[in-house]
Amino acid sequence: MKMNKKYLITTWGCQMNEHDSEKIEGILNSLGYIATSDKEKADLIIYNTCLVRENAELKVYGNLGELKRLKRENPNLIIAICGCMMQKEEVRLVIKEKYSHVDLIFGTHNIHKLPELLEDHDQKKNMLVDVWEDNEEIVEGVPTKRKYDFKAFINIMYGCNNFCTYCIVPYTRGREKSREPEDILEEALKLSKEGYKEITLLGQNVNSYGKTLDSKLTFAQLLHMLNEIDDLERIRFMTSHPKDLSDDLINAIKTCEKVSNHLHLPFQSGSNRILKKMNRRYTKEQYLSLVEKIRKEIPDISLTTDIIVGFPEETEADFEDTLEVVRKARFDSAFTFLYSIREGTPAADMENQVPDEIKHQRFQKLLDTLHPISFERNKELIGKTVKVLAEDFSKNDSTKLSGRTDTNRLVHFKGGDDLIGKIVNVKILKAKTWTLEGEIDV
Ligand code: SAH
Ligand code: SF4
Ligand code: F3S
Repeated sequence: MKMNKKYLITTWGCQMNEHDSEKIEGILNSLGYIATSDKEKADLIIYNTCLVRENAELKVYGNLGELKRLKRENPNLIIAICGCMMQKEEVRLVIKEKYSHVDLIFGTHNIHKLPELLEDHDQKKNMLVDVWEDNEEIVEGVPTKRKYDFKAFINIMYGCNNFCTYCIVPYTRGREKSREPEDILEEALKLSKEGYKEITLLGQNVNSYGKTLDSKLTFAQLLHMLNEIDDLERIRFMTSHPKDLSDDLINAIKTCEKVSNHLHLPFQSGSNRILKKMNRRYTKEQYLSLVEKIRKEIPDISLTTDIIVGFPEETEADFEDTLEVVRKARFDSAFTFLYSIREGTPAADMENQVPDEIKHQRFQKLLDTLHPISFERNKELIGKTVKVLAEDFSKNDSTKLSGRTDTNRLVHFKGGDDLIGKIVNVKILKAKTWTLEGEIDV
């Protein structure tokens, strides 16, 4: 046991990475390490990295550079890096050449091997690199130190087989694999018994859940199963790929009372020509009719999305198609990205990359179109009473709590810490573009 050794872990990237970090913390705690937020006091610093866009990558290199001084002052400090960046050979070469103060490199597929890796490094003391291309097996039973005690992530699948041409994730996370429903159910039941109110099911494309299972259970069937767990109050999930969204899933969201009325449905681009080059396998028309169907079946659903601006060859006319989808679908909110070249993906080699200046102009126009719609949609809630899971004190006003509605909107309201982790009724009084304000309604 490493009694009282202190670790600090920093995480970049998506919820998949956040949850992986919870597993790394669980493993370290089981080895006797304790967490610290002070890097000067840490015996072990871990960076869990992301490769999805260039700026995520640059941040990691910047931070690694700064660790040189710490390592000089404390030669016993162990610096470990893991996560999606490490899956790429070129990145590992850069680390070996320019960041030789790093002690340990591991990947996304062998987190469970961390105890052995630390042990090995302890004995040899030189830079240890162990990255697996993929892992056939899903490893169960990894200890997990969860960030919250009322909401939790549950992996339902790993990897991605979609190979959207801009995206690095299939190369960093390997082939799609679904977790056995019994294992998911067991984890959800355990969490509910421990008092967790909300679970978020994680997968790069949850709609294709079950395809690699002998039972061929579908995602909709999985939701129906989880909806039966008495003590759970909310079930969220992400992400859904439009090409695989079934009527059964729409029906499951509609009929399962615990499943949130929220769908994150990335459309990326509104232009059929660009969608084809992205290998998204749906058209603008199919996406819009899907949205229409969903809104007809579940009128109060919240729809959010991801949009990429400036994919290679995108013209003004293509971009206008994207704006048209935004106006017609009326998203509650959206994550917007400037297209970022990822070496190793097909789009990186495409001709006619869009100049940065044009990307930025379109990006601004996109935000100008999205924001008033988000504001309008938030205003529609004024006067209504909604259920909010109180999560923490508000960052700007410590007399207020912040929490999320069933439809994933952020709400601020007056309240004390006794309410944190509870679902409360809040009457909405005021709307802004990204947040709502309300008061407890008893
Ligand atoms: N599996 C999820 C999300 C994966 S990454 C899905 O398919 O929806 C999250 C988002 O990052 C993507 O939806 C996409 O909008 C964006 N993204 C991925 N690669 C990108 C790139 N090279 N440049 C800019 N944005 C990118
Ligand atoms: Fe990337 Fe596409 Fe897979 Fe999402 S579905 S992770 S965007 S390849
Ligand atoms: Fe997530 Fe980034 Fe990896 S978005 S899957 S952490 S490349």
